[in-house]
Amino acid sequence: MATETFSPSRSAEAPTDFLPLQGTDYVEFYVGNAKQAAHYYKTAFGFQSLAYAGPETGVKDRASYVVRQNKLTFVLTTPIKNNNEIADHIARHGDGVKVLALKVEDATSAWEETTKRSGKSYLEPATLKDDDGEVVMSGIHTYGDTVHLFIERKNYSGPFMPGYRKWESVYNPTGTGLLYVDHCVGNVGWNQMNPWVKFYEEVMGFKNILSFDDKDISTEYSALMSKVMSNGNGYVKFPINEPAEGKKKSQVEEYLEFYNGEGVQHVALATHNIIETVTELRNRGVEFVKIPESYYATVLDRVGHIDEDLKPLSELGILIDRDEEGYLLQIFSKPVEDRPTLFFEIIQRKGAKSFGKGNFKALFEAIEREQAERGNL
Ligand code: FE2
Repeated sequence: MATETFSPSRSAEAPTDFLPLQGTDYVEFYVGNAKQAAHYYKTAFGFQSLAYAGPETGVKDRASYVVRQNKLTFVLTTPIKNNNEIADHIARHGDGVKVLALKVEDATSAWEETTKRSGKSYLEPATLKDDDGEVVMSGIHTYGDTVHLFIERKNYSGPFMPGYRKWESVYNPTGTGLLYVDHCVGNVGWNQMNPWVKFYEEVMGFKNILSFDDKDISTEYSALMSKVMSNGNGYVKFPINEPAEGKKKSQVEEYLEFYNGEGVQHVALATHNIIETVTELRNRGVEFVKIPESYYATVLDRVGHIDEDLKPLSELGILIDRDEEGYLLQIFSKPVEDRPTLFFEIIQRKGAKSFGKGNFKALFEAIEREQAERGNL
């Protein structure tokens, strides 16, 4: 697939991108029960059945269900035997994101370019073939037990990849308007943000496009710091959070404790109509962090005119922020497992390319109220 590269900062003399990315290919979750997790993402989030791999397709140690909505592809994988790395991952972390897979033109070159820059190999380039063609994949480790896979699928026409068969289901709930991955946020340990920023710069050629220090992101009680890393064309954005000192425990610390280490904190999913999407998600049982009424009393003084009525935004708890280029609407789900670990953000961008800095205080105070309810503040 040809890709237009969009980069206002890139001049004609800029070096060529050694790791050209065409976007997120899929997000793979290691979960305790993939059959039920797939049902949850279909029912609650509006994904459709796409593909399946497991004992029936010749895979002996796992079962994987692939669901899709527009350009969003989730893979839900569970171990069917005890002594394998998937079972170990779940024992250590609970359900969580294992793979942030990135679509590339050349997976062999992606692996060579990143590993020669000291990226640690997870998977050497491998070619998978079936009657629908071939997929080349390779991968490197990132923070915690999380990995990036590079997926080259230009010579493949099957439903997902070799080893999977099409998953036909009689249960096909309607979509909720979720379109693609806007960004994926990693939580890393104390003083580990800058080393991981360096990793994305040096190993993957990303740039730090925004930074937030503990003055931007602190409440009375707790704090965190964050830097946003972006690839050259801006299709892939990975903010990296680390905890900062506060009077009480940072939400990042709570995550690190319950995830048993570093990992993906949230995946932000884009929509063109956040009011419709969030109304639908709520009706299907997705729970969101509650924002106090008082937020809406003054928000328009801060962000100015917006096209939407404030009433549905306040009823749903959708947050608003503005930067020089426009505004954005966003909302955060509660964690989607019993551990206070992974959650989702729903985001609608109306020009803004930032991440909602103006909302951090109101949002984090709301998150802390829930952290306090769990006895972890
Ligand atoms: Fe986010």
